[in-house]
Amino acid sequence: MARRSNRRWRQPAAVAERCPWASIDDWMVIPMIRLRKLLADDVATIAGWPAYPPEFEDLDYSLRNQGWLAEYSQRPNTWIFAVEQSGRLIAFTILSKTRDTEAEFRIALRADVIGQGLGGIITTETLAKGFGEIGLSRIHLIVRKNNPRAIRLYRRLGFTERGECWKVINEKCVHFLEMDVLRECCATHPMSKA
Ligand SMILES: CC(C)(COP(=O)(O)OP(=O)(O)OC[C@H]1O[C@@H](n2cnc3c(N)ncnc32)[C@H](O)[C@@H]1OP(=O)(O)O)[C@@H](O)C(=O)NCCC(=O)NCCS
Repeated sequence: MARRSNRRWRQPAAVAERCPWASIDDWMVIPMIRLRKLLADDVATIAGWPAYPPEFEDLDYSLRNQGWLAEYSQRPNTWIFAVEQSGRLIAFTILSKTRDTEAEFRIALRADVIGQGLGGIITTETLAKGFGEIGLSRIHLIVRKNNPRAIRLYRRLGFTERGECWKVINEKCVHFLEMDVLRECCATHPMSKA
């Protein structure tokens, strides 16, 4: 399918309503994206996904057996979503409560769908679940300072930088940006004042 440079895809009306940052004329039709609960079989499927390219090689561990799914699946008040496109598993997202109405967000796409603009749709859908049925008021994340693709995506969706931190990940000291988005400020939420 031909791609247009501005990477806006056409989604069903329910999704389009949450994405006021795109003119409908800019959108193209893509197969439906669906979020569902992650199942045990998905964990094995994700662990077998192809390796990330050099841009994300330090994040490859997140897909594997001791990665994010192992880290978060035992945590209370945690939602892990499997993301399907036309019935194929292409990503997962995580919302894990850190306070009553606050949660941390994580996302990982399968390597072969990176760079197609799907991260925006999937993040939008996950924020909608968080601010909607889960009832969150704030969603926050940490993102590596050397991950400009993710940082740009989060800024476009309304995340704001709140600080920086260092963490030791896989025996390496990693520099992170801290970002968050509030329900009332979320560009993709119907309650947004934008
Ligand atoms: C990060 C991730 C979710 C982004 O999703 P994606 O669909 O691949 O993102 P896109 O290709 O649409 O890129 C997002 C934006 O960054 C821009 N971008 C791409 N490469 C860039 C670069 N090197 N520098 C700056 N911006 C860049 C894109 O043009 C796009 O801009 P737009 O939103 O204005 O159109 C996805 O790549 C992924 O899962 N990566 C591996 C795991 C990961 O990094 N998770 C996040 C951890 S915090």
